[in-house]
Amino acid sequence: MSDKTSNKSLFTVSDLQGGYGDIQILNGVSINVPEKHIVTIVGPNGAGKSTILKAIYGIAKVTSGSVTLNKDGVAVDVLATKPHNLSKIGVGYVPQIENVFPALSIEENLEVGYVNFANRSLDEIRDDIYGRYPDLKKRHKDRAGTLSGGQRQMLAMARALMSSPSILLLDEPSAGLAPALVDQLFDELVKINQSGVTILMVEQNARRALAISDYGYVLDMGRNRHEGVGSALVDDPEIVGIYLGKK
Ligand SMILES: Nc1ncnc2c1ncn2[C@@H]1O[C@H](COP(=O)(O)OP(=O)(O)OP(=O)(O)O)[C@@H](O)[C@H]1O
Ligand SMILES: [Mg+2]
Repeated sequence: MSDKTSNKSLFTVSDLQGGYGDIQILNGVSINVPEKHIVTIVGPNGAGKSTILKAIYGIAKVTSGSVTLNKDGVAVDVLATKPHNLSKIGVGYVPQIENVFPALSIEENLEVGYVNFANRSLDEIRDDIYGRYPDLKKRHKDRAGTLSGGQRQMLAMARALMSSPSILLLDEPSAGLAPALVDQLFDELVKINQSGVTILMVEQNARRALAISDYGYVLDMGRNRHEGVGSALVDDPEIVGIYLGKK
C-alpha cells in the first residue's frame, strides 16, 4: 500500500446491471475507486467479476447503471465512451486471457499500446518501460508467443502502461503463475500503484490481493455482498469461511 494523498473518487461503478444477451449476470453492482488506491474485487467462480470489467470495457451488455471517470474534475461517462477510446481517456484494461499479440514482437506489442495522451513520445514511454522491465528490453525482438506465462503477464501490463493510464483494470493478473512469480507480480502491482496509477483488479488469489489493497469488495451472484479495508476482510471469520477458504 502506498501513501494515499486523497480519498477523492476517481472511478465509480453505480448499480450496474447487465450480462450477455438476455442473461442477466450483474444484478446491481457498485464499486468506488478513490484516486491512487488499489481496490480488489473477490468472489466465487461465476460471481460476475470478469463480467464487471467486460461491461466497463463494452464487451458485456449493460442494461442499467453508470460508470464514471473523474478526469481533471470533469465526470466522464465511461459507458458512453467507445471501447477504443477508453485508453485515450486514461482507462487501461488487461484481460485475463489472450492479453498479448503472440505473433508480434515484444517491441511491437508495446507500440500497439502507445497512445499520445500525456504528450509523451513513443520512444520516451518505451524507454521508461524498458527501464522498469529489463527482461522485456533484452528480448524486445522476440515474438511475444515465445514468452513464459509470467513474462507475458508483465508484457500485458507494460502494454497497458504505454497509454499512461490513470486507472488500470486487471482481470486475474496472477492467474496461472507459479508461486514465486505471484509474489513478483504483486510486488510489481504495488510499484505501478506507487508510480501514481490507480488499480481496480479482480483476483482469485484473494488473500494476496487483499493484502496489497486499500479496499476490497466481495461479490456474489452479481451483487455486492461485503466490503471493507483489505485486512478487515481477510480477518473476518464469516468472509473467510464462505469466500476465502482455508489458508
Ligand atoms: N460470453 C458469455 N455468454 C454467456 N454467459 C457468460 C459469458 N461469459 C460468462 N458468462 C457467464 O456469466 C457468469 C459470470 O461469469 P464471470 O466470468 O463474470 O465470472 P467470474 O466471477 O469472473 O468467475 P471466475 O472466477 O471463474 O473467473 C457465469 O455464469 C458465466 O458462465
Ligand atoms: Mg473471471
